[in-house]
Amino acid sequence: TGIITLDPGYKNSGSCTSKITFLDGELGILRYRGYSIEDLAEKADFLEVSFLLIFGELPTAEQLEQFEVDIRKYTLVNEEMKSIIDGFPRTAHPMGVLAALTSALTAFNPKSVNVDNDKEMYQAVCKTMGKFLVIATWTYRKSMGYPLNYYDNTKGYVENFMNLMFKLPTEPYKASPIVIDALDKLFILHADHEQNCSTSTVRMVGSSHAGLFASISAGVSALWGPLHGGANQAVLEMLEEIHKNGGDTDAYMAKAKDKEDPFRLMGFGHRVYKSFDPRAQIIKKAANEVLETLGVDDPILAIAKKLEAAALEDEYFKSRNLYPNVDFYSGIIYRALGIPTDMFTVMFAIGRLPGWIAQWKEMRENKEPIGRPRQIYTGAALRDFNKPE
Ligand code: CMC
Repeated sequence: TGIITLDPGYKNSGSCTSKITFLDGELGILRYRGYSIEDLAEKADFLEVSFLLIFGELPTAEQLEQFEVDIRKYTLVNEEMKSIIDGFPRTAHPMGVLAALTSALTAFNPKSVNVDNDKEMYQAVCKTMGKFLVIATWTYRKSMGYPLNYYDNTKGYVENFMNLMFKLPTEPYKASPIVIDALDKLFILHADHEQNCSTSTVRMVGSSHAGLFASISAGVSALWGPLHGGANQAVLEMLEEIHKNGGDTDAYMAKAKDKEDPFRLMGFGHRVYKSFDPRAQIIKKAANEVLETLGVDDPILAIAKKLEAAALEDEYFKSRNLYPNVDFYSGIIYRALGIPTDMFTVMFAIGRLPGWIAQWKEMRENKEPIGRPRQIYTGAALRDFNKPE
């Protein structure tokens, strides 16, 4: 009871206290556990950052090695999971399959999804990091009709991602170190972003004491939407469409500004960043570097740059503080690495996984109450019950 404040989209409501990620939308600052995103993207690797987010401190060399070994232990996925994958049509969207498979993991790991002590928590963390990576790549293998690959213990986490995705039984495969570096950076930039839609979902679902896999599966579904993680796929489809239509960026700018037209410029705008998205700046630079190093000349990059320049000059976008976000340039890198468009949001999910885990763990350790917002009822008053004639 008492006065209920209405805040659609929770634009001005904090749902928790958190020690994980600091974000200043006015100044364009993003830090994980106090370390700047620029430093982490430059100097750390993805598993190091995952450890930092989840456990609060950077790992020592020994801790990092142990973390890798412990994740490796859990990269085997129950064989019966394969029959679940086989039940999906090849045309199924990988995000839908990923959400379903993550949820299915609860059936094969009933113990480790609920945690009663530090040891169980650590196990649940490693299990999720290990198995999620493997099933995420299986959604792609399935869509291609390729045999499924297994984790290679002689290789690192990000290199394993490339192997799991692209290794064919008929040919030797070695991912290029440039590709691995670029991916590592992209995963780091996506690793956490405080109480965004999918992370809030993970915390909300977990607040009823649902286990880690169930909570992460809900996070995957929340991430899928085009206003959130699904934007990276939508950006590339938009850029391809502009390219196909002769590169007329002005026409798309006009559409985006037309209030009668629901079209939005994908990859622009952010709920919190109102001057720039620091991740987008790092990714833009990386996109240039990766394409140059790999010798890829992609006309889509030129269109993206033209669109960005036009929007940054435009009164509509300027007055609403709409700047390119993390998703605007990430797809261009993924494309150069040979990742198909409908896998882009899965890439985001792999990167965001340690953030989801860290936030779920923090929520449980803080002993947060069940999430249960109120409402302001606007429906009918009491009515007499008469069956309609
Ligand atoms: N193109 C055209 N107009 C836009 C756009 C856009 N991309 N984004 C916002 N606006 C306009 C919007 O129409 C509104 O105008 P008005 O004040 O005249 O009604 C104003 O800007 C404020 O927008 P809002 O919808 O109230 O802002 P929000 O904080 O609710 O939404 C957003 C933020 C990211 C959902 C939105 O900017 C958007 O839809 N962007 C495109 C999708 C996208 O790129 N999403 C990825 C976000 S970053 C990564 C992630 O979260 O996963």
